[in-house]
Amino acid sequence: MMRRLLYDLPLVLMALPLWYACCATPSAGNVTLKDALKDKFHIGVALNEALITGRDTAGVRVLEQQFSAIVAENCMKSMHIHPEENRYDFTLPDQFVALGEKNKMWITGHTLIWHSQLSPWFCVDEEGNNVSPEVLKQRMKAHISTIVGRYKGRIKGWDVVNEAILDNGELRRSKFYEILGEEYLPLAFRYAHEADPQAELYYNDYNEWFPAKRDAIVKLVRSLKEKGVRIDGVGMQGHVDMEYPAIEEYEKSILAFTQAGVKVMITEFDLSILPMPDRNVGAEVSAGFEYREELNPYRNGVPAGRMQEWTNRMGDFFDLFLKHRDKVTRVTMWGITDRDSWKNDFPIHGRTDYPLLFDRDYQPKAAVSRIIKAAEGVGF
Ligand code: XIL
Repeated sequence: MMRRLLYDLPLVLMALPLWYACCATPSAGNVTLKDALKDKFHIGVALNEALITGRDTAGVRVLEQQFSAIVAENCMKSMHIHPEENRYDFTLPDQFVALGEKNKMWITGHTLIWHSQLSPWFCVDEEGNNVSPEVLKQRMKAHISTIVGRYKGRIKGWDVVNEAILDNGELRRSKFYEILGEEYLPLAFRYAHEADPQAELYYNDYNEWFPAKRDAIVKLVRSLKEKGVRIDGVGMQGHVDMEYPAIEEYEKSILAFTQAGVKVMITEFDLSILPMPDRNVGAEVSAGFEYREELNPYRNGVPAGRMQEWTNRMGDFFDLFLKHRDKVTRVTMWGITDRDSWKNDFPIHGRTDYPLLFDRDYQPKAAVSRIIKAAEGVGF
């Protein structure tokens, strides 16, 4: 027996480093994002059609390994889910919810009331004139209660109203505002609460680090609470770039919203590496700029130094989220790989951007291990 052990020992010793490298300590290589962030906040991602249907098999693999929360990138917006007044299309939304349940993920619904990707019939009559306030209320109520009711108890939180406030703090002159005035905001939250009293309800927007916009959102949260209307959180989209915003400005908004008595979630995070044609764009989906070669500098790859700057800035944002892990309940990336990102076409069509955590070959970028190390470093 002893002789046998002595005989095998050199072999065992030789194999040890190999075993250590592949299976032993949790190096950033084998700890996943969702493991590392488990006790901090949900790490989520927006799903496009190819992911929801499973056509993007490599993407689904990354999704299931790395993420603990999902939101639908497009299929629950009114023009898709409710294309005609008497017709809903739940094909993709049903698959989306089933995928999340199969993986025990936190599922968020996006979005109930939004001026963009709005069903053309929603606010007008057959002649194209605005409907009366009463009719719009009925339509909002039917829309919200049908969708929220269908997924009652399964979708855990809803972006009830999206992008109602402009960067200068005024209410956006959307059709909802034109017809109902600011009244449409509490109404939407009330209808959602009636349809699923357990669901969390959020107000979601971009550019919330603009001081006037930040203040207006705080005011909105306070006024909803004063009216006794349920609101659980403010979603900060977080479509950021290499220059804006300053991390400190972003932090001020996390603190301001928390002080107004709600949770904060980062709902649509991506970090564009490309030059922004105008600093005020944010995620104003109607914005569009003409293509120019100099605004698309990384068509064939990003120089290492520039990529390092991107990694550092992504890391700095996650450091901020980790610092405020008692306030931030979820950080959701707006897509899995760079190839999926809407930023390749926004605000200029046809560029090559690198805003997400996984590259075009589904490989984790350096930022992923940077985030995992930071998460492991902060404790609980
Ligand atoms: C974007 C999608 O990513 C695109 O595929 C679509 O063409 C336009 O909308 N703010 C939001 C998101 O709340 O729903 C938007 O998503 C991005 C800006």
